[in-house]
Amino acid sequence: MSQLKNRIEQHIEMIATYTATPGNGTTRLTYSKEDLQTRNYLKEQMQAAGLTVKEDGFGNIFGKLEGSNPDAPSVLIGSHFDSVPNGGAYDGPAGVVAALEVANLFQQHNIKPTYPLEIVALVEEEGSRFGGGLMGSRGITGLLRKGDFHQLQDKDGISPKEAMQDIGLDPSLPKMRDPKTMKAFLELHIEQGPILEEKNIPIGVVESIVGLTQYEITVKGQAGHAGTTPMDKRADALITAAKIVSTLPDFAIKEGNGTVLTTGQLNVFPNGSNVIPDKVIFTVDIRSGEEENVRHVINQMLQCVDSHQGIGIEIDVEEKLYIRPKALSETIRNQLKEQSENCGIAFCSINSGAGHDAMVFSDVTDVGMLFIPSKAGLSHCPEEWSDVAHIANAVEIFYETAKQLTEAK
Ligand code: GLV
Ligand code: MN
Ligand code: MN
Repeated sequence: MSQLKNRIEQHIEMIATYTATPGNGTTRLTYSKEDLQTRNYLKEQMQAAGLTVKEDGFGNIFGKLEGSNPDAPSVLIGSHFDSVPNGGAYDGPAGVVAALEVANLFQQHNIKPTYPLEIVALVEEEGSRFGGGLMGSRGITGLLRKGDFHQLQDKDGISPKEAMQDIGLDPSLPKMRDPKTMKAFLELHIEQGPILEEKNIPIGVVESIVGLTQYEITVKGQAGHAGTTPMDKRADALITAAKIVSTLPDFAIKEGNGTVLTTGQLNVFPNGSNVIPDKVIFTVDIRSGEEENVRHVINQMLQCVDSHQGIGIEIDVEEKLYIRPKALSETIRNQLKEQSENCGIAFCSINSGAGHDAMVFSDVTDVGMLFIPSKAGLSHCPEEWSDVAHIANAVEIFYETAKQLTEAK
């Protein structure tokens, strides 16, 4: 166990060095230099665990241990390896590292699966570079269509295809995967909230994941001189955007039932201190465990936006992502609980307020997900921290569950 903990710690520490913001958290944008460094590390580690490594046309990484029945569908375990700007070292990598260590245990104990075991490391879950999020898993499952992928751009107008080629990836490789090739998907993730730590329980078995939607709203006005344009002759895009941004949270508060709404990104153009802004682009992220709450808040948001269309102001609204709340497989939930009990690890049931690749896979295969505690419930910030002993607990549970699911000998 202490050897397992040490290995996990080394992986997490090594991956944390691949950041564009050393000393200020993890910033690992998809297809960046830091993505390439992490990718090379993970591929090496997968090879060392005896896996055959492949990438797909999105740059998702798969390390496969063949089953004695090579045509059988795979049991997938993994998570994502991109990050938010100035995020933490555990959101994503904890799950990839746990998966890698499950494969290492298979190798160490010379376990021969009947169904193949695949370790997966997914790209662009956060959407920090191309918007929306869950790009790798939506791509694999066909939820992100080829045309939509080719329309994506980062803030500098670079397409995923160009960005992939810049780090030597091949966007012409196969993208979507036949659901028949997947038997199950397991993901470990940090909780990113306070519940497990408060209850002092090391493992949460995830029952369901919130429904979430993301919008990009563009307000266009008229640029002008800050000194010479009278106040009543302005079409200031930032003032309109600010009015909308400050109104929206009330809709979520009134909706209640755990509904949340966030504007986390706002860009002002041309962004000059003495220029009236002519364009503002901002995001709106709405979530709830109940789809009707999400839909209701969307309608109110659209009405609010409409009420601000006016002379000299034009507002465009674009839906970037819409995913319904998802219940995870009851069979796998029960297996995870049974294996936690067998391993002597305390657990409780929990719901997820964060979005995860697991929710996308749940459309096409049986999905199970474990959470471990997050220190002070913090995540998406440099202070994010989880105990490697808890990751090791999850590895033990997944190892036993993966042996069952792959019908290992
Ligand atoms: C991912 O972290 C999300 O919940 O947006
Ligand atoms: Mn995550
Ligand atoms: Mn995240």
